[in-house]
Amino acid sequence: MDKLVIVGGQKLAGEVIVSGAKNAALPILCAGLLSAEPVHLDNVPDLQDVRTTLKLLNQMGVRTEQDGARVQLDASNVNNLVAPYELVKTMRASILVLGPLVARFGEAKVSLPGGCAIGARPVDQHIKGLQAMGAEITIEHGFIEARAKRLKGARIVTDMITVTGTENLLMAAVLADGETVIENAAREPEVGDLANLLVAMGAKIDGIGTDRLMIQGVEKLHGAQHTVIPDRIEAGTFLCAVAAAGGDVVLRNVRPNTLDAVTDKLREAGVTIEEGDDWMRVRMHERARAVNLRTSEYPAFPTDMQAQFMALNTIADGTSQVVENIFENRFMHVQELNRLGAHITIDGKTALIAGVEKLSGAKVMATDLRASASLVIAAMCAEGETLIDRIYHLDRGYDRMEAKLTKLGANVKRIKGNEA
Ligand code: EPU
Repeated sequence: MDKLVIVGGQKLAGEVIVSGAKNAALPILCAGLLSAEPVHLDNVPDLQDVRTTLKLLNQMGVRTEQDGARVQLDASNVNNLVAPYELVKTMRASILVLGPLVARFGEAKVSLPGGCAIGARPVDQHIKGLQAMGAEITIEHGFIEARAKRLKGARIVTDMITVTGTENLLMAAVLADGETVIENAAREPEVGDLANLLVAMGAKIDGIGTDRLMIQGVEKLHGAQHTVIPDRIEAGTFLCAVAAAGGDVVLRNVRPNTLDAVTDKLREAGVTIEEGDDWMRVRMHERARAVNLRTSEYPAFPTDMQAQFMALNTIADGTSQVVENIFENRFMHVQELNRLGAHITIDGKTALIAGVEKLSGAKVMATDLRASASLVIAAMCAEGETLIDRIYHLDRGYDRMEAKLTKLGANVKRIKGNEA
């Protein structure tokens, strides 16, 4: 298993190009299943979850070609409608093939994802929505099996706001017979990006970007070209890194308006941020002020930025409270941050952070994707050397993170599994 060795104390300076959004690319790749004609994608990030999704699609019979950030999908010869446990257990987003497969082929067999490091994460809403559209669903031997001659439009109100749940039901509805209304839909920009690709493929969707999606089903979809939106969480991670380590960095290929909740909090912490249409400049030359935050659905503060912002709060002036409202177990980074000298205690879904002057390097372990990013940020401002184990979590969701940080002046080295 690869590890990262980080020596703290370097300020960050220069420019960084933000990659395409992981959480937009994954559903968009699965949407390729909805048409027999080719789908051309640009700005697809180079990361493990994308490779896993391509592997999943390949073994269903989808032909894929990749050239850097360009991916072409050809789903004209799909011959296997099963998502096996071996792939689903490594990436929960595999559930996103369920909607497209039932919608186009009338059946699908997808392994149940099970729990994961950040919480139980059931998929009952995906199932409930497909049932409302007339799918017959059985759960046996650890698989969800869905069947429907043709899905029928329905009015669906999800019990809670779910991102991949909305995406799965949206992909199912575009080929259903009649009108589907999804109430309480997730408004995350990644859902909007998927909807825009579907429209480019001939789908009829109203209400994109709102919590009420109205879909008129069509008989079939055609091929399309689409550029994946920039990754707001990668951008936010770099913003927090500069806020914590100090420095002056310009981010390119970003959509600042998708980051308002994060930039508001960073400004409250004393960070200077300027923004244009597709760039941001972030400067920090003083110790941050501690800032309270609570995670919630878009457009509020994202749960995917909670751990990174907490890393900043650990060295900020003052005490802060961070409340995690989306996942019940997303504080796994707390014990590891404390190993670096942070003072954090947990009370239910609230973390109480007493800012310290300095962190000190230590051996720590990454437990999930955003927890890894928070440890990288903490390590960059810790005194001495930090060794982060289980860095495969970082590789799942960040496109060449350590190369980008090294270019900005951080002292980060990867130790390959066989050297460690
Ligand atoms: N939930 C249910 N039943 C369902 C679906 C969701 O109870 O059928 C609950 C979940 O357990 C959770 C809440 O609803 O408590 C919200 O979960 P959601 O379904 O929105 O999460 P997700 O779709 O599984 C996506 C992202 C996550 C991100 C969350 C929240 C992708 C591939 N994943 O997950 O990204 O944290 O939305 O914004 O889009 C990450 O990138 O690090 C990551 C974990």
